[in-house]
Amino acid sequence: MNAPAKKPPVVWDPLLRTFHWSLAFFFFLAYLFESDKLGMHSHAGYTVTLLVLFRLVWGFIGPRHALFTDFVTPPGQVYTYLRQLFYRTAKRHVGHNPVGAAMILTLLVSLLITAFTGMCLFAMEGSGPLVNTLVASWPGHVVEDIHEFSSNFTLVLIIVHVVGVLLTGLVHKENLIKAMITGEKQPDLDFPANRPDEPYHGQNT
Ligand code: HEM
Ligand code: HEM
Repeated sequence: MNAPAKKPPVVWDPLLRTFHWSLAFFFFLAYLFESDKLGMHSHAGYTVTLLVLFRLVWGFIGPRHALFTDFVTPPGQVYTYLRQLFYRTAKRHVGHNPVGAAMILTLLVSLLITAFTGMCLFAMEGSGPLVNTLVASWPGHVVEDIHEFSSNFTLVLIIVHVVGVLLTGLVHKENLIKAMITGEKQPDLDFPANRPDEPYHGQNT
């Protein structure tokens, strides 16, 4: 009798998955309700801020594939991977690949700039957590332009992010979106168990 097929290991932990889909939800909520400044917009914006701050901490204390040290690479490797993706020779990564990693960092920075400038605008109107700080005296129209630009720039990044996810999934014939829902991914067959730092290899953790 054949042994039952093993479930793939969990690569994206539950907190990271909750972070991801909540971030996507609250970003669009803030974006779509931009006219409801005192209500939905600012509340969704604060939630985005807290989520991004959580992710920054999780990048230092989370499980292996959540760690920045697991996926942040020098810019040269990002360029090389981009070329390899184009020629369909890019190596599969169980965690984030170098291009995905660069996109994630850019997204997080862009989200922080958007949230920060939003809070500055609020401070200028006499409310929010930055109200009694120096930012309240900054030139309002400049901050407003930055807020508008960075929120639209983030939207462009998100479109590129989703296209990149679909493209990478196509090249490596795997469903990355499903993996971000279940957390499960097949172990990297190019890296057999001879890698001692592969604690989950062949195990259901
Ligand atoms: C709604 C459509 C979206 C889909 C289908 C999607 C899909 C994915 C997938 C599959 C990954 C994992 C990539 C990998 O395998 O390396 C990922 C990661 C990520 N996505 Fe999205 N995403 C979406 C929207 C968003 C939005 C709106 C944001 C930001 C506001 C976002 C930010 C991120 C971040 C920060 C990560 C890195 C996860 C981590 O390590 O923390 N995504 N996304
Ligand atoms: C990170 C998520 C956020 C996104 C995606 C976002 C997006 C936007 C967008 C698209 C606009 C309209 C820009 C325009 O056409 O003029 C806007 C305006 C505004 N946002 Fe945000 N925002 C975010 C966070 C925040 C936060 C956290 C606050 C404050 C607590 C805030 C306060 C404001 C204010 C006061 C305006 C009105 C600016 C004006 O007078 O035109 N935003 N935001």
